[in-house]
Amino acid sequence: MASHSDVMLDKLDAPFRDYLPFDPSTLRVQRLNSGASNAAELANMDAFCARILDGYTLGRYLNAKRGIAATAAGIETLLARAGVKPTGRILEFGAGTCKLSAVLSRSPDVVSVDCMDFSEVLLREIAPRVISWLGGDLAKFRFLVGDMNRIDEVQDRYDWIVCFGAVHHLTVPEHFFVRLRERLLPGGQVLCLDEPAFPEITLPFEAIRRYRTAIHTARVAGENEHAYKLSEYRRFAGPGYAFRDLALTPGERRIRTFSTGPFQTNFVLTPAGA
Ligand SMILES: C[S@@+](CC[C@H](N)C(=O)[O-])C[C@H]1O[C@@H](n2cnc3c(N)ncnc32)[C@H](O)[C@@H]1O
Repeated sequence: MASHSDVMLDKLDAPFRDYLPFDPSTLRVQRLNSGASNAAELANMDAFCARILDGYTLGRYLNAKRGIAATAAGIETLLARAGVKPTGRILEFGAGTCKLSAVLSRSPDVVSVDCMDFSEVLLREIAPRVISWLGGDLAKFRFLVGDMNRIDEVQDRYDWIVCFGAVHHLTVPEHFFVRLRERLLPGGQVLCLDEPAFPEITLPFEAIRRYRTAIHTARVAGENEHAYKLSEYRRFAGPGYAFRDLALTPGERRIRTFSTGPFQTNFVLTPAGA
């Protein structure tokens, strides 16, 4: 019998628009705000989604057919190894394709998942297909269209607030984490995965130089792209949280690829005094 991944990989070869294993009228989408603080970045993201829908497969977008399946499997392995198990009511910010939430939603201990992104087309058209591929429970999902820099406009409170590669897109991360605390239920925690991070000492690697140049170019184009050091992520969380680095030893940090340069960092924040 074909495994779930085999079925999924078949679908990755089909034109993306054709893969619609859900009734779009059942999607729960709520608009919070216009996300206008990042207009240039949002325009790029929407144009990118249109290209995917107009004939690219997501496999081509990922530039490696098995990328999304491998990432989902990697998330499961990392969380199991670290003993981190988000349950209850979950909010993902900068959710994009929602692959992290898709993986989490499979657990019967997860009650609901709210996914926030500023791109409505990404949430309506791309994310539900990815959630379906990954065997996520679409019925648990609600999609919130809005600017994550205005996280205080989210009405509800959550047991877990999670993200995958979104912190480095925030305008002022220090302020964000202070406001995020107010969106947590008692005992709630924050999980941040896949943030690009540089070591404390700037190493003269060509890959790092190229990555910094790419970030600079994106910023000149109006995007909120940043390159941070590990210590800066700790500083952003500030004294309001206990910071748990999910790499057990420095050697466990995976260099993403030689073409991109930075490490991938993953951490859990627990409100101090909670
Ligand atoms: C590097 S991608 C993260 C990948 C995403 N978590 C996923 O799994 O596909 C950054 C995501 O953050 C979203 N984003 C960037 N700035 C945002 C903002 N100010 N408010 C909401 N979403 C934003 C982008 O649309 C994109 O989906």
